[in-house]
Amino acid sequence: MLTRRAFAAHIGLGAAAVRMLPEMAYAQREAVGARDLPQDVVWLNANENPAGPPPASLAAMRETLPTSGRYHFQEFGDIYAAVAKSEDLEPGQTIVGAGSSEVLHFAIDAFTSPTRPLITMTATFEGPLEVARGLGRPVVLTRLLPDYSADVHALAEEAGKAHGGLIYLCNPNNPTSAITTHKDLEWLVGNLPAGTILLVDEAYIHFGESPELKSALPYVRQGKDVIVTRTFSKMYGMAGLRVGFGAARPDLIRRMTPLRMGVISIVSARAVLAALADRQNILPPRHASLAKTRRELCDWLRERKLSFIEPHGNFIMIDVGRNAREFAGAMPRLGVVPGRPFPPLDNLLRVTIGTDAEMAKFRDVFWKVYQG
Ligand SMILES: Cc1ncc(COP(=O)(O)O)c(C=O)c1O
Repeated sequence: MLTRRAFAAHIGLGAAAVRMLPEMAYAQREAVGARDLPQDVVWLNANENPAGPPPASLAAMRETLPTSGRYHFQEFGDIYAAVAKSEDLEPGQTIVGAGSSEVLHFAIDAFTSPTRPLITMTATFEGPLEVARGLGRPVVLTRLLPDYSADVHALAEEAGKAHGGLIYLCNPNNPTSAITTHKDLEWLVGNLPAGTILLVDEAYIHFGESPELKSALPYVRQGKDVIVTRTFSKMYGMAGLRVGFGAARPDLIRRMTPLRMGVISIVSARAVLAALADRQNILPPRHASLAKTRRELCDWLRERKLSFIEPHGNFIMIDVGRNAREFAGAMPRLGVVPGRPFPPLDNLLRVTIGTDAEMAKFRDVFWKVYQG
C-alpha cells in the first residue's frame, strides 16, 4: 500500500493527468523529493480540512462497512433526494458524483463542444481546464481584475464572441481565495449571452464570511441557465470519501446524467447522509474555528507587513516578494508543504489553513525561509 508520502514521491514530476484529479493530486504531483520529508511533515497544500469527517459520519461508515459487499442501488434514490432536500431542491435538480470533480467533468463534457468553449479566468482551479483540453474543447481565458476578482464583463463578452459556451466561475476562487461579489454574479446571470451556461463551483462557499459572497443556488431554483457544484471534501472534511453534487434545472441535469460514472460508494453516501442530518452541529463550529485560525494568520502577516489576498476560503495566498516556486521548494524539508505555484501569480504562495498547531509550525518555517 502506498503511504501518502510515498504516493507524493511516486507521482512526482512528470506524471500526466488523463482524468480530472482532485486538488491533492494536482498539488502533490508537483512535490519534489517527497521521499526525504520529515515524518511529522505538515501538509498545507491541498485545501483539505484537518477536522476530517464528523463523528456522526464515522459512526455511519463503521456501521455500513460490513454491508458494503452489495451495491445498494435501491437506496440511492432516497439518498440523492436527501442531498437535494438539504438545499431546498427537488431530486430532479441535483446530480451526485464521486467528488465535485466528477460533476465538473461531466458538466464540461455535456456543455462544451469543439465549437462551444469553456470560458474562465486565470488563475483558477485547473481541473476544468484540463478536462476541456483533454476532450479537445477550446478554452478561453480572461484575466482577473486587479483586486483578484473575476472580470464578469470579460467572461460574458468572450461567451458572446464564441456564440455561446460554458463559463466556469469558481467562487470563492481557488487559488486566490477571492470572491465574486453577489452584485457581479447577479449581473453575469442577467447578461449571459445566448447559448451560454454558467457553471459556478462553490467548493469553498461554506468558509466565507463576507455578506458580499452569496451562493448561486437561488438561480438554479429560479430555473436560470446556471449549474452549481458543491463538495463534501472541504468543510465536511471528507475529501477521501469522494462525494460532491451538482444543482441545475432538470433539463440540464438530464443532459449530464448519461455521462456520470454510476452510483457512488454506499459507505461514502451513508457518511454524507449522517453529516447532513447533523449539519447544524457540524457547520457552525467548523466555520468559527477556521475563521479564527485564518484571522490569526492574517493578523500575523499584517504585523510583518506581508501582503496577501483577503481570504474567503480555507486557504490564503501570500506575496512572498520573490518567485513562489523557489520559496515553496524550500519549505518541505523544514517540515511544511505549502501549495504549488499558480502561474501567472508567480510571487504568491498558496497555503491551506490547518489546525492552530499546524499554523504555528507554518509561521515558524515560513519566517525562516522568508528571512533567508
Ligand atoms: C475549486 C475546486 N473545485 C473542485 C474541487 C474538487 O474537489 P472534490 O472532487 O474533492 O469535490 C477542488 C479540489 O480541491 C477545488 O479546489
